[in-house]
Amino acid sequence: MEVTKLNHPLVSHKLSILRNKKTGTKEFREIIGELSTILCYEAMKDVELEDVEIETPICKTIGKKLDEDKFAFIPILRAGTGMLDGLMKVIPNAKIGHIGMYRDEKTLKPNTYYYKTPKNLESREVFVLDPMLATGGSGIDAINMLKESGAKKIKFLCIIAAPEGIKKMQEIHPDVKIYCAAIDEKLNEHGYIVPGLGDAGDRIFGTK
Ligand code: PRP
Ligand code: URA
Repeated sequence: MEVTKLNHPLVSHKLSILRNKKTGTKEFREIIGELSTILCYEAMKDVELEDVEIETPICKTIGKKLDEDKFAFIPILRAGTGMLDGLMKVIPNAKIGHIGMYRDEKTLKPNTYYYKTPKNLESREVFVLDPMLATGGSGIDAINMLKESGAKKIKFLCIIAAPEGIKKMQEIHPDVKIYCAAIDEKLNEHGYIVPGLGDAGDRIFGTK
């Protein structure tokens, strides 16, 4: 399974602002959105296009067309919803699902409290959205459920991935490609990514 990490000066610059504990909620949320748009471009590099006949003000020509309806974006609540606008900006007609999960602070195991996805997942390109891939537990469980619902083509988009989470995801879901803006050093004893950016959900929604 592949891991694609964004490699661009602008991404490095924006990541530093995200990581800074002094960055406020508004700017944090905006940058999560911007990086998500860039991740979306990267994750769509290999999608199939159809020919379409169009007429420019000058002449007829053949262009390329994307079937936006084929895409399903599935944010993992809460923090994943912070990424959604960034993708909807460029693929506004994608279908949206939601998976509600929270990590138990002691065991670090995910608990699922909500699951609702678009129909016909088997024929869609499914992008799972969550800013943080830490132990990997939440992403892996979310993908288990999506596969049970029929999803076959799944990509996982995150802002920061820990090596531990990447390894576990590769073991359990070797067919799922990971796209991230950074791969950090490790997890700490509380399951937080180091250096990371703290609790993504709290920083997006200002709940700390
Ligand atoms: C965070 C994050 C991921 C999960 C990652 O969510 O958004 O969903 O932890 O950790 P893992 O890879 O070890 O499972 P959290 O459970 O804090 O919920 P929230 O989005 O509601 O803040
Ligand atoms: N979830 C977060 O929001 N941040 C981390 O560093 C790990 C899990």
